[in-house]
This record gives sequence, structure tokens and C-alpha cells, in this order.
Amino acid sequence: MQTIFSGIQPSGIPTIGNYIGAMKQFITLQENYQCFFCIVDEHAITVPQDRLKLRQQTLQLASLYLAVGLDPERATIFIQSEVPAHAEAAWIVQCNTPLGELQRMTQFKDKSQKLGMEGVNAGLLTYPPLMVADIILYNSHLVPVGEDQKQHLELTRDFVERFNTRYGTVSQSILTLPEVKIPQKDAGGRVMSLQEPTKKMSKSDGNSKGFISMLDEPNVIRKKIRSAVTDSSGKIEYDPANKPGISNLLVIYSAMSGDSIPSIVEKHQDSGYADFKNELAEVVVSVLEPIQERYNELLVSEELQTILDEGAEKAKKVANKTLQRMRNAVGLGRKPRRK
Ligand code: AQP
Repeated sequence: MQTIFSGIQPSGIPTIGNYIGAMKQFITLQENYQCFFCIVDEHAITVPQDRLKLRQQTLQLASLYLAVGLDPERATIFIQSEVPAHAEAAWIVQCNTPLGELQRMTQFKDKSQKLGMEGVNAGLLTYPPLMVADIILYNSHLVPVGEDQKQHLELTRDFVERFNTRYGTVSQSILTLPEVKIPQKDAGGRVMSLQEPTKKMSKSDGNSKGFISMLDEPNVIRKKIRSAVTDSSGKIEYDPANKPGISNLLVIYSAMSGDSIPSIVEKHQDSGYADFKNELAEVVVSVLEPIQERYNELLVSEELQTILDEGAEKAKKVANKTLQRMRNAVGLGRKPRRK
């Protein structure tokens, strides 16, 4: 059976962008793959976090993983910082990655340009190697992510090829080369902000009207969708270049309802934007409400703690084996002795 790894940062409450771009894929994939789904809290601290809020958001994300339908019998669900192999493997990755490659990462370039070199932490530069470590430790064949992570996956593939060439043999490679799995743009690979539809929807957006959080109450969802930026033509059609606002709403409608974009456009050819938005709001509410109910029960349950304890143990077993291969490859520590 092939293996999948993916993670989400507990840097806020996941948005419907995280749900459509990542979580929804996880639910389907757990049927046919061995899956590792992680709450990547070490990634979250690349930007300042309130410690109590971070802990709370970590548990909230874990509850949401379960509430959307991830099954701990099929998938290993765990917190990154509870598996120390991630940080250790990341160091080996950093020491085998040219600095220039990290400086070219879009997220680093964007944030360091915005905040200046003095305004960003070193972790913002070196977190892509941590992501490489996350993926390779589980011998992952496939990594389901949204489009914004494509560049990091390319970095991972380059690293694996370089590492295997440098330290492996022709007949035996040390690390598994992963493939990336990104939904098409019209299937939600990049859900856009409701307020600035040319910008990605993000959970840490300072303007909360730009995103729908998975825990937003029905009336908040309705209000946010009603105030989503569109255009003045009033015609419902999918044209991301010229009508990014309404096209983004169509993508959300399609991903949440399972209906195709052309069928939604046809159904609404005589509707105005206001009616369309009202209907979309009900579609989103009908998906999120049952998730929120399950979430509320899970968050305070002992079951959640047990699932995370067991997940960390299962993850450690696999991760430590890969880490030992990496340590052997580069010559760290003493040769392991047979016990
Ligand atoms: N807008 C989006 N559309 C589709 N997929 C998305 N993802 C994130 N935003 C969208 C996917 O969700 C997964 C988890 O992302 P993450 O939390 O690890 O980091 P991120 O991509 O930086 O997500 P955010 O919401 O934008 O977080 P902040 O605001 O903290 O930076 C990934 O698979 C990602 O592609």
C-alpha cells in the first residue's frame, strides 16, 4: 500500500480553503492509502504565536480532522512536535540544501519583502526543509496539498534526488521520491479571499471577512458570503481572469455541493448575485453544521487525547526508522549496535 503524508498548521482555525484544498482530499484518500495526517505546530511558530492560543488551536485542528471524517483506524493523526524526529531530520535536510534554494521560496520572498529581513525569523527561511523532513520521514509516495504548496514539493523532490545520489547506491535509494497531488484550480486548489479575490484565502488574514472559518456560525457565514466582493455585471459565469469574485464563489459552490461549475452556472442563469449568494451560503452551512456538531463533542473528549497519544507512537516508529537511515547516510553518531 502506498503512503500519504499531509499537514495543516494550527496557525488559526482552518478556513474552507484548507477544507476544500486539503482536508476533503484526505477523506477520500484514506480509503486506499496508508495515511499520516499531521498538525504541524512547529511550522506555526515561524511567525509569532500566543502560546495558549497555539495549544488551543492545535486541539481544535485535531478535532476538526476527526469531525470531517478522518478515521484513526485508517489514518495516523498526530502532532508534529510530539515526534522529535521531524526537527532532527530537518537539520540534516538544511545541511544538504543550498541557501539560494530557500531564498527563492515565494513565501519567504513575500514575507521578507513585506516585513524586511530584520522583521522575519530565521525559521521562515528554514521551514521548507522542515516540510521536506515531514514528508520523507514517512516514505510518502503522495502529498495532497493546495496549490500554494507546489514549490515546497518541488524542493522536496529535488532534495530527495540529491540526497539519494549523494549518499545512496544505484541499487538502493535511502529516501522515497514523493509525488504531489493538487486539486485543479476550478476544483478548489486555490480558494481565494472573499474580499480580495485575487489573493489566496488564508486563516491568518487580518480581515476576517476575507475567509470563512470552519467554525463560523451559520449567520456569520451568511453575512460573509453576502458581503463577498463580486463585480457590477451581475452575470453568473466562470471567468477567473475577468470575474475573479464570482468565479471564486462558483468554485466554492462546486466543491461544497459536488455539482459541476457548468451545471451551477446553468441553474443560475436567471439569478442575480444576491440570490446566488444566499443559496451558496445555505450550501456552505449545510456542509459545515454537522462537522461543527461532531467537532464540539470531540474537542472535550478523552477519545481525542487517546487518538493523539496513539498517533504520536505510531508516527514515531516509522519516522525513527527513516531518521536512522539518514543518520547512517551522513555519518552521525556511532554505528548502531545490534542488541
Ligand atoms: N486558499 C486555499 N485554497 C486551497 N488550499 C489551501 N490551503 C491553504 N489555503 C488554501 C491548503 O491547506 C493546507 C494547509 O495549509 P497550512 O495551514 O499548512 O498553510 P497555508 O497554506 O499557509 O494555509 P493558510 O490558511 O494560508 O495559513 P496561514 O494563514 O497561517 O498562512 C495546505 O495543503 C494548503 O495548500
